Amino acid sequence: MDYWTGIYGERRGGILPKLRLGILVSGGGSNLQSIIDKAEAGYFPAEVVVVISSKQDVYALERAKKHNIPTAVVLPKNYKTREEYEDELIKILNSYNVDLVILAGYIRVLSPHFVRAFQGKIMNIHPSLIPAFCGEGFYGEKVHKAVLDYGVKLTGVTVHFVDEGADTGPIILQRAVPVKDDDTVETLAARVLEEEHRIYPEAIKLFAEGRLETNGRRVKIISKEDSQ
Ligand code: GRF
Repeated sequence: MDYWTGIYGERRGGILPKLRLGILVSGGGSNLQSIIDKAEAGYFPAEVVVVISSKQDVYALERAKKHNIPTAVVLPKNYKTREEYEDELIKILNSYNVDLVILAGYIRVLSPHFVRAFQGKIMNIHPSLIPAFCGEGFYGEKVHKAVLDYGVKLTGVTVHFVDEGADTGPIILQRAVPVKDDDTVETLAARVLEEEHRIYPEAIKLFAEGRLETNGRRVKIISKEDSQ
């Protein structure tokens, strides 16, 4: 697979205009909430400009509305092909001049058509330490069940750029989370989610400050001093 080389967004030094985030969701949106809260607190030079859901009536949409963030529901079943569905997403994201697309509990795998439209500008979060317990079929509680069934002592969270595969793009940040002897899927998922709410805003901050330099699969974090 071909990877790109470079610094995302070419955003370094000076006073940065706010990075415009478009967030894709399909569910409860607790990661969306952590990003909205960090944006409002000025944690990073970025703002959520639109939230798009692949499902109707999900709580993520309520969260966006409470913060006066525009929302859209784009249902895949209303489109003849995946490309037509994704063209609608691309149209909406471009109409809001989105700089970075954030997948936050978005359950569909995006096709190469979409990935090429936002090459190097799509992030995903996955609730395990990639490349373990990831890829096709590993989503939601299935990930944590597989972790418990396997008996690993450490799991974690990965934030990565999205490429044309499922959970295969260059890794930006990872954080380990211990698995406890008495964990259930629910207790483990809750502990992992807490870490998700910390690490996703950190990755967005690094991107927004122009501090992510990618070379093939490897993403280097440029120190704050070197980025000035
Ligand atoms: C999170 O565990 C995320 O890693 C996964 O889906 C879950 C979404 O949670 N991709 P939420 O909708 O952000 O609460």
